[in-house]
Amino acid sequence: MSALLTLTRPDDWHLHLRDGAALVSVVPHSARQFARALVMPNLKPPVTTTAQAQAYRERILEALPADADFQPWMSLYLTDTTPAAEIERAAASGVVLAVKLYPAGATTNSQAGVTDLRRCRGALEAMERLGMPLCVHGEVTDPEVDVFDREKVFIERVLIPLRRAFPGLRVVFEHITTQEAADYVRQAEGEIAATITAHHLLYNRNAIFQGGLRPHWYCLPVLKRERHRSALLQAATSGNPRFFLGTDSAPHARDDKESACGCAGCYTALHAMELYAEAFDAAGALDRLEGFASHFGADFYRLPRNAGRITLQRAEQVIPASLPFGGRELVPLAAGETLGWRFVG
Ligand code: DOR
Ligand code: ZN
Repeated sequence: MSALLTLTRPDDWHLHLRDGAALVSVVPHSARQFARALVMPNLKPPVTTTAQAQAYRERILEALPADADFQPWMSLYLTDTTPAAEIERAAASGVVLAVKLYPAGATTNSQAGVTDLRRCRGALEAMERLGMPLCVHGEVTDPEVDVFDREKVFIERVLIPLRRAFPGLRVVFEHITTQEAADYVRQAEGEIAATITAHHLLYNRNAIFQGGLRPHWYCLPVLKRERHRSALLQAATSGNPRFFLGTDSAPHARDDKESACGCAGCYTALHAMELYAEAFDAAGALDRLEGFASHFGADFYRLPRNAGRITLQRAEQVIPASLPFGGRELVPLAAGETLGWRFVG
């Protein structure tokens, strides 16, 4: 196997960039590896309107290094009261690519999310009519449901009824973490796809508890058991265009994670493509990485594939212990560990 791997420049179809000084610290990492990203709207306050998405996009562009070649695509945060007219504005804007469903209370800054999808009928009808994709955080919030089962239960209680009610709605099941989700996406009728993170391909839930409680491996949906990791790896490396790259890189300051009630989110943007290469390499499927990372997402979003190329080299590098984060500190996933791949450019 050659020491160099060259692919079409990839895109990250699920990314948290935050705002202000934190944004300035992290956006160069994504811009180095990816041509485009779909930027998540869970800011404080959330990005619920096209005007807010346009303003946020401007702040991202300003935060980019002068030589960056990176295009942020925006997402709108769906609420119980999002009007159909807002979806129409978003679809006409040329900057909003999708709408994000956070079930209220499911994750970071989801308090303003949807309490009951029946309240979103007007917005969903408009999305179905306009071909605007719905990106779904697929977990129920019912406290009776075990945290490891929340994705599986979401498919039965929410996703299947939603897609039955809106059969033309284009859906991306974000950051899938279970065999059940992979099976559903593979078999379901209609336009559906799923993003898969690097951390859910590389780690199972043992990583959270290895040698002690390790908060930097805590994200939502939480890592699952090995049979799920292995099903996700199978899906990602299968060549099925319904599965594509979305890092869900989600930076939180070190003290917000290393805390009595630590925030959910793994920071992977610094070395995202190396992590994916590591996972595909271990599966003997490096030849499938380009479709997953660089083709299938663009195809789903009906955008042209990128023209540029990137190169990864089979060479060791140590992941830094910490990074600057707007005057605070950010610990990347697997800090201090050695990767077998290096992003060359
Ligand atoms: O781990 C996560 N972090 N999952 C999410 O859904 C949100 C994200 C964040 O914004 O920190
Ligand atoms: Zn996310």
